[in-house]
Amino acid sequence: MGHNSITDTMDVSLISPSISSYKWKDGTLKLGIMASGNGSNFEAIARDIDDGRLSAEIKVLIYNNPDAYAAVRAAKWGVPAVLLNHRNYKRRQDLDGRIVQTLREYGVEWVVMAGWMRLVTSVLIDAFPNRILNIHPSLLPSFKGSHAVEAALAAGVKIAGCTVHLICLEMDSGPIIMQAAVPVLPDDTPETLHARIQVQEHRILPDAIALAPILYGSL
Ligand code: GAR
Repeated sequence: MGHNSITDTMDVSLISPSISSYKWKDGTLKLGIMASGNGSNFEAIARDIDDGRLSAEIKVLIYNNPDAYAAVRAAKWGVPAVLLNHRNYKRRQDLDGRIVQTLREYGVEWVVMAGWMRLVTSVLIDAFPNRILNIHPSLLPSFKGSHAVEAALAAGVKIAGCTVHLICLEMDSGPIIMQAAVPVLPDDTPETLHARIQVQEHRILPDAIALAPILYGSL
């Protein structure tokens, strides 16, 4: 390391729990991924599966914004992508009903919200009890909601991070599976901090997908 430069801390992160202490389950997880935008977390999951680091199969991507880049990534990886545009549904429950139907059609067992920016209802949660993971760009329970990175910066925290948790009815509040912490640097903007957090998201989301079935039930 160079001497004393604050940028030396760029690669420093703390992830908990360490997955090396768990014995992996045999079998292939059948995943359904939900995304609203860029889909870099979708890509991280697909890459880890491809590399043999995660024993899973992405059965379907569900996306809600017609121009979501996640759909382009799905095509690249040969994953079926289904657009369920929330604007076409009067009530959240109606959208969630279609989501459940689609996930079942594709034989999904575990659901991963990888940048899904809509609140979900009991229609979805009750259909996949303790089987829905979400990635959030803060160290929960701090900074819930849709502007978590901006809120962390505004609060002046010196450590930020990301969390993978199980979904429950209360937003960003279900049991925590895995977290990664990163430093906040003096010149950070929301963009630079988010980019640093995303490097860790791409590490912990695939690991948390492997860990959740060990902690919360069978494959
Ligand atoms: C991620 O940073 C994720 O944590 C966040 O959206 C981003 C999606 O990135 N999710 C939330 O804020 C949910 N409340 P991606 O589309 O590149 O995966």
